Amino acid sequence: MANKPRKAYRFSLMLSLLITIFVISVNAILLVVFTKETPFKQENILPFTLSFIVVFLVCFLIFRYHIENYIYLKIKHIYQDLEPNLSDELNDILITNDMDSLLNNVKQVALKRNVELDSLKDQAAFRREFLGNIAHELKTPLFTVQGYILTLLDGAMKDENVNKKYLSRASKGVERLIYIVKDLDLLTNLEKGNTELDLFYFNIVDLIQGVFDMLEMQASKSNINLEFDRKYEEPITVYADRERVQQVLTNLIMNSIKYGKKKGTTEVSIQPIYENKVIVRIRDNGEGIEEEHLPRLFERFYRVDKSGNRRMGGSGLGLSIVKHIIEAHGEQIFVESQAEIGSEFSFTLNRGKVTASA
Ligand SMILES: Nc1ncnc2c1ncn2[C@@H]1O[C@H](COP(=O)(O)OP(=O)(O)OP(=O)(O)O)[C@@H](O)[C@H]1O
Ligand SMILES: [Mg+2]
Repeated sequence: MANKPRKAYRFSLMLSLLITIFVISVNAILLVVFTKETPFKQENILPFTLSFIVVFLVCFLIFRYHIENYIYLKIKHIYQDLEPNLSDELNDILITNDMDSLLNNVKQVALKRNVELDSLKDQAAFRREFLGNIAHELKTPLFTVQGYILTLLDGAMKDENVNKKYLSRASKGVERLIYIVKDLDLLTNLEKGNTELDLFYFNIVDLIQGVFDMLEMQASKSNINLEFDRKYEEPITVYADRERVQQVLTNLIMNSIKYGKKKGTTEVSIQPIYENKVIVRIRDNGEGIEEEHLPRLFERFYRVDKSGNRRMGGSGLGLSIVKHIIEAHGEQIFVESQAEIGSEFSFTLNRGKVTASA
């Protein structure tokens, strides 16, 4: 028993004393009844004192080593049931025959269990919601594809006027499905934390220009201008995973186009901050976001205006992916936005020491 209980010690002492007084009193009464002698006679005092000491010691030893051990073992079993993973050493420290401490410990274990239970319930609710969202997202394109294929099978295949159109619409539905599944796959990997970053030095100005070129077609459909805030003649080298940063830029610039105004502008700036960081800002003058949505914006499947976004074909995964990638780099992402005025998404990156163009 590593932890010698103080209260139990006192308890054994008191109980032994009471039993001894009881036994000695019974002895004294029996003496009076059977021999008519008084126990306070000179020659009776020594045997009574000796009996008192012997009975007291025997009682005390019994309580101390047998009952206490018995209680200890019982409590140990309770602890082992409550905390199966507790090491034996810690178990011994926690176990005490002191009822107050025991009660306190059991309360703490119960409290911990409640917290664990709440967190498990939250996780279960989260999983349910996540699965519901996935099913919901996949349903629309799946039904579209199914609808066109069934129509084609029902005879439209022979109609030269519509067969190609229906096939291409079915193909668009499949494309959409692939897009969602790819995003989900990427997000799941990012959340599992098993995405290894391929870090090296590259010129972020070139990368942004590349994304501008790639999204030029989409931007021009809405007459949106993609531009830098100024001319960047010198390369700005950062140390990051080039492909992942490209994904971040693509998602953010794509959003600025999707939620931008016709004839609007998306402006990207790169500024050095602190000693070894740069901050990349993507600013648009589009529809903006109401303040109440900002705290939840980076959550999976979160969309501001569900009906509006459905028209745009978004599934609400883009920003969640952006956040994970930036956080995997150990960097930060910020958003500022005002409805009807525009939005600014910005993120930091590590600046490379090498200054030559990547
Ligand atoms: N630049 C922006 N201006 C206005 N609203 C924005 C902007 N960027 C994002 N949002 C809002 O935030 C929501 C979440 O964006 P996110 O990129 O995560 O999803 P999405 O664009 O709807 O779909 P996905 O990117 O997965 O195709 C969007 O639905 C939109 O309402
Ligand atoms: Mg998006």
